[in-house]
Amino acid sequence: MSAAAEATNAAVAESLLAFWADAGVDAMLLDEAVDRIEAGKVMPPVRPAAPVAPLAAVASPRLGAGQADISAAVAQAQQLAAAAQGLEALVAAIAAFEGCPLRFEGAATKAVVYRGDPKAPLLVIGEGPGADEDARGEPFVGRAGKLLDRMLAAAGLTDRVLITNTVFWRPPGNRTPTPAEQAICAPFLERIIQLVQPKMLLLAGGASAKSILKREEGILSLRGRWFEWRSADGSLELPAMPTLHPAFLLRQPAAKKRAWNDLLTLTERLDRPDRPL
Ligand code: URA
Repeated sequence: MSAAAEATNAAVAESLLAFWADAGVDAMLLDEAVDRIEAGKVMPPVRPAAPVAPLAAVASPRLGAGQADISAAVAQAQQLAAAAQGLEALVAAIAAFEGCPLRFEGAATKAVVYRGDPKAPLLVIGEGPGADEDARGEPFVGRAGKLLDRMLAAAGLTDRVLITNTVFWRPPGNRTPTPAEQAICAPFLERIIQLVQPKMLLLAGGASAKSILKREEGILSLRGRWFEWRSADGSLELPAMPTLHPAFLLRQPAAKKRAWNDLLTLTERLDRPDRPL
């Protein structure tokens, strides 16, 4: 096989795997049943697994290894967030914050906090900045962001959104942010919500939906449904809708119809007088 054909095959396989992973598939079944008992007779004895490092321990070499480090970073983020009396003060506080390990992992050159209308009725929350966002200092300005903008424009929402992410620094290799990184950034995100006071949240992708709603299901099961988001102190409640991430839609254009339906459902509710879920 030629090198070009091999590269194409690899890209197709990668795209398909990403599709299934985004859909929440975490196991693969074979067409033929496997007799594990029979197979086990010839398998080497199972050795005890090496102890798995707790999440906190892998979160940041710079921050140290313990849950205490994460708790301290969260506490500091809470303090800084609470002290910020406006969005610009909050942006400055985030830019100066050194408690998120992502800041020191080599991919981020700056904090990327938000773009859009500070009084927007709709807050869109993505996963985390990529290379384009890091270069520009604004969320969702790359290919996925352009698709998001086209969808928002088609739904008449262009000037009615503020866009942000669950984390404010670019993860290396554009990997998904860890729950620890999201937890450390959460007080700032929550302060953005308090300062903007949107009417509802649109959660783009599984990493955003799971972290903000504290749910375990895959995005294909969460999307298009209404959830109630509540602030940590219980003072604020908002309707939140998970939808498919625009980067996923670029890889799987056939899924655009579902994301579009989600956006229409959300827009319809945004424009109707307040009604409970
Ligand atoms: N993907 C995201 O989740 N956020 C961005 O800002 C860009 C791409």
